[in-house]
Amino acid sequence: MLSELDSLKTEALAALGALHDEASLEAFRIDYLGKKGRLTALSARMREVPPEQKKDVGAKLNEVREAITSGLEVHLGALQAAKDAASVAGVDLTLPGRPADRGSLHPLTQIRDLAVRTLRRMGFTLADGPEIETEWHCFDALNTPADHPARNESDTFYLPDGRLLRTHTSSVQIRTLETVKELPVRIIAPGAAYRRDEIDATHLSVFNQIEALYVDHDVSLADLKGTLEFFFREVFGPKTAVRFRPHFFPFTEPSFEIDVKLEAKGREDRWIEIAGCGMVDPAVFASVSKTRGDLLFDPETVTGFAFGMGLDRLAMILHGITDIRHLIDNDSRFLRQFA
Ligand code: PHE
Repeated sequence: MLSELDSLKTEALAALGALHDEASLEAFRIDYLGKKGRLTALSARMREVPPEQKKDVGAKLNEVREAITSGLEVHLGALQAAKDAASVAGVDLTLPGRPADRGSLHPLTQIRDLAVRTLRRMGFTLADGPEIETEWHCFDALNTPADHPARNESDTFYLPDGRLLRTHTSSVQIRTLETVKELPVRIIAPGAAYRRDEIDATHLSVFNQIEALYVDHDVSLADLKGTLEFFFREVFGPKTAVRFRPHFFPFTEPSFEIDVKLEAKGREDRWIEIAGCGMVDPAVFASVSKTRGDLLFDPETVTGFAFGMGLDRLAMILHGITDIRHLIDNDSRFLRQFA
């Protein structure tokens, strides 16, 4: 029995040497180690072994099984290694890799982030409102009468149910004032606005604004001026001149348009209109007080300022972009310049 086992081992290991594919190695495994294999057949004969030899024969059985198993494993490993080597043959692993294309933030995203970051430093927090708005939030509550030109069908996208695509982010002023619990209110709301404009180099029917609103017991025009001057100097540079021109908005009184002075090399300085602002009209506080049914925004005791501006316009002025349509073309030759 011992010598039979020895010769089985020798035979098996010799046979292994001639096998060079997975199928024949599997056949070999079944032939020697399988349930009906030769080694298994020999182990079954343990019963016939006299008791005093059982220990030696058992040890030999184990030794032979281990030798065949590990011989098989070594062969399978070598086969796999040969396969791997073949699959990368001719590939030069020392060649430099192909660089992956790297994306970058859209100039509009960049300017929005800068605006939000700057105003957050002054204590403003983000607020939001729906882009499909009611006439109440977009116009009536903002003291904008029914015959105001902005409410005309030719200026605004209306839905069949009477709601509309908000024409400005000022509707978020109302959304906020209707729901906040306490003073002060200090919010900013960046977002899309919609107007029925002919599309050209300076107009899109969807554009982006950022709105700000600050309400408390003693907010003054000086706060408004200081906030905006700081803001525009952060965006356009510390020496930027900012000018307030009297204007009219239904929801602020007094109201102003804001110009910034741009200095371009080899060109005369220009004042460019950039934002609208003003002190919240008491009529707005009266509207939201009626909806709220409390006196948190009693027009007699609170004051506030608001401003709003186009982010697209901000980006265009900052980067000298002459056609607003570049901002939505998704042409990587354009976008790459802001990476
Ligand atoms: N909503 C105005 C616009 O779209 C801008 C504005 C906002 C003016 C807040 C005053 C106060 O033109």
